[in-house]
Amino acid sequence: MPTVVFHKNGATHQGEVKENTNLVVRAGIRQFPFPHLRYECGMGKCSKCACRVMSGAQHLPEPNWKEKKQLGERLAQGYRLACQLWIEHDIELAQDDLEQAA
Ligand code: FES
Repeated sequence: MPTVVFHKNGATHQGEVKENTNLVVRAGIRQFPFPHLRYECGMGKCSKCACRVMSGAQHLPEPNWKEKKQLGERLAQGYRLACQLWIEHDIELAQDDLEQAA
């Protein structure tokens, strides 16, 4: 099972998820990374769920058009929309308050 390491506001949270897991869907049913993951629409429209991928990015598919539209230049800095990702391998993500204003 994939291990997800999630950094938020200086704290590190870790959990195991089933393969093919969407972290926003999980948070919606109050499972890890709830309550730490910030999100809103769940549909790639708000970019509130943007996370920086610290490791494991090589296992992710190419960003879809929603991620390209929402993240723009931040894609090149390693950001992805958590609501658009289905996790199949270990991954390490960071979501800081700094990103909230972006
Ligand atoms: S939750 Fe709105 S873009 Fe991901």
